[in-house]
Amino acid sequence: MEKLKLGVLGSGKGSNFRAIQAAIDRGELNAEVRIVISDVENAGILEFARSAGAPARFIPPGKFKTKLEPEIEGAYAAALREAGVDFVVLAGYMRMIKAPLLESFPHRILNIHPSLLPAFPGLEAWRQALDAGVSEAGCTVHYVDEGMDTGSIIAQSRVPVFHEDTAETLHARIQAAEHTLYPKVLAGIKIIG
Ligand code: GRF
Repeated sequence: MEKLKLGVLGSGKGSNFRAIQAAIDRGELNAEVRIVISDVENAGILEFARSAGAPARFIPPGKFKTKLEPEIEGAYAAALREAGVDFVVLAGYMRMIKAPLLESFPHRILNIHPSLLPAFPGLEAWRQALDAGVSEAGCTVHYVDEGMDTGSIIAQSRVPVFHEDTAETLHARIQAAEHTLYPKVLAGIKIIG
């Protein structure tokens, strides 16, 4: 069967990308990472991509803090297309995606969020969960739309919240769940047409 050609976007340390690459290397995910793009020049995700031999590119983010100007989104779309990508994975990408990129990859952009959406969208969702006193937290893989963590949900993974949890311990437990869930969801993606 043909490999899924992935483009990965991330702003941070890239542990989800590592988990995806590890699943590919173990033969559990029939995919190849065609390009990794970051809005942060010294992001760990770019460093890891280079060490793993995946093409890595920094695209300067422009003047906004939480989104991109349309021309810059156009540059992302062009880079992804040139790399032959057919599916885009947000892995700790800290900006909102808007029309130019969404329209270039309709229903082909996924994100992972560290909460059981629709609960706790936005930043530091694990801290929001802790502050709310819930007994269960988790992560969600969802399609990306113009909203913040609002796209349709594909899969979730649950983890317990313990009395003694700190933001750090809960975040680590959620991230471990992410690293299993994201590759598993990607392994189930079929590109039609
Ligand atoms: C993850 O917790 C993910 O849920 C959120 O950003 C974080 C990225 O972490 N969207 P990493 O860069 O993959 O380690």
